[in-house]
Parts: sequence; structure tokens; C-alpha cells
Amino acid sequence: MNIPSSQQCLSLMVNHEMPAHIQEHSHQVARIALGLGRCLNRQGAGLNMELLGAGGLLHDIAKVHCLRTGENHGLVGGRMVRQIGYPQVAHIVEDHVRIAVSDLQHPVTESLVVNYADKRVKHTEVVCLEARFGDLVERYAVTIERRDFLNQFLSLMLRVEDMIFADLEIQPVDIAGWARAMPSHGGILNAPGSERQAYCRQTDSSVMNRVSAASHDNRWRLHG
Ligand SMILES: [Fe+2]
Repeated sequence: MNIPSSQQCLSLMVNHEMPAHIQEHSHQVARIALGLGRCLNRQGAGLNMELLGAGGLLHDIAKVHCLRTGENHGLVGGRMVRQIGYPQVAHIVEDHVRIAVSDLQHPVTESLVVNYADKRVKHTEVVCLEARFGDLVERYAVTIERRDFLNQFLSLMLRVEDMIFADLEIQPVDIAGWARAMPSHGGILNAPGSERQAYCRQTDSSVMNRVSAASHDNRWRLHG
């Protein structure tokens, strides 16, 4: 299996003119993916840590290019990474913008972990799924179809979250605490319980309500 090192990933990010804020987003996604990978592997998941790190760092490699062209940045990014010679990482890049019910019927994969990690990082901030999707709806739900797709994506991603954390000792809320303290392509520190904070699913459904309200009203965009 050919997987780029963290240094090679950083070079690819620079060579593809990835802006600093997307680089930082990608580092954060890699941190989350690696942290979850370590936890899942303790339970015997057998995930490839190098693949998780590289997938996290490169998942948005085509984001800027596609903002200009309007293409799907997952598919274009996957094509780019495959052409460079990293087909397994390409698979993760392609998969990070889609989810299917069938993904829930198999053991957790590297693709699913990076996909989930990406949905926990809004820009560079670690947030709950509802906050991330609320932001996506505000920025990208320019059509009813797109909004419905995001709502379905969120529903499935909440199930992915349940699946990932089913046998873990940590909770989804704990991620925000340890992500900041982790090197993006290496080890993982213990989750400090003192950094626990309110998590959307338990305490704050306002974003979800707004998404649902928009769906009910057939509005194309959310405001406020
Ligand atoms: Fe991303």
C-alpha cells in the first residue's frame, strides 16, 4: 500500500495551493481521525493509522480548485491523488463528501472515520455534527435538493457517530478536548475530562431545529 508520509502530504497541500485556513482545517480533521483511529484500534478495529492521517490531511486537496470550477471536490481530489499514485488515499478523498446506508452495515473503515472527522470540524473549530451541518446548509444549500441532501447526510452521520462511539470509552463531546492537544500526524494524548462541554445532541437542538424549520418551510437559505 502506497501512502504519503505527513511531510509528503504537507508538500502536496502547498503544491496544490491550499490556503492556510484549509490547511489548518485539514490538520484538525487529521487530528480527529487519528484520535478516533487510536481509540477504535484499541477495540480491535484494525484501522491503518497512516491512511487515516494522510486521508485527513488531503481530503480537501481540490477544494479551492472546485470552488472556482463548481465541480465535486471529493471526486476531483480523489482523481488528483490517484494520479499521483495513492489509490487508497484517493478512495478516502472521494468518500468524504458522501454517505450511504450501506456504509452503516460494515465495520468502521478509514473512509468513514475521515468523513466523520471532517463533519466535526467547522473551518478550524471542533463542533458537534448539528453545528457543522447548520453551517453547511447556510453556505451551500442553494437548492432544495441540496438542502435535502444535507439533511439526509446529517441523519446518516448521526448514525455513524453512534456506530463509531458504540464501544469506545469516550463520548463525541470529548473530541473537542483532545483534538487541540494532539500532533496532527502522530500520537494521541488522553482525553482530559475537564474539557467536557455541552454537546448539541444532549443540550442544544437549536441548529437542528433551524435545519428542520428550513426543510418544513421550503426555504432555500437559513438566516440569523
Ligand atoms: Fe474538510
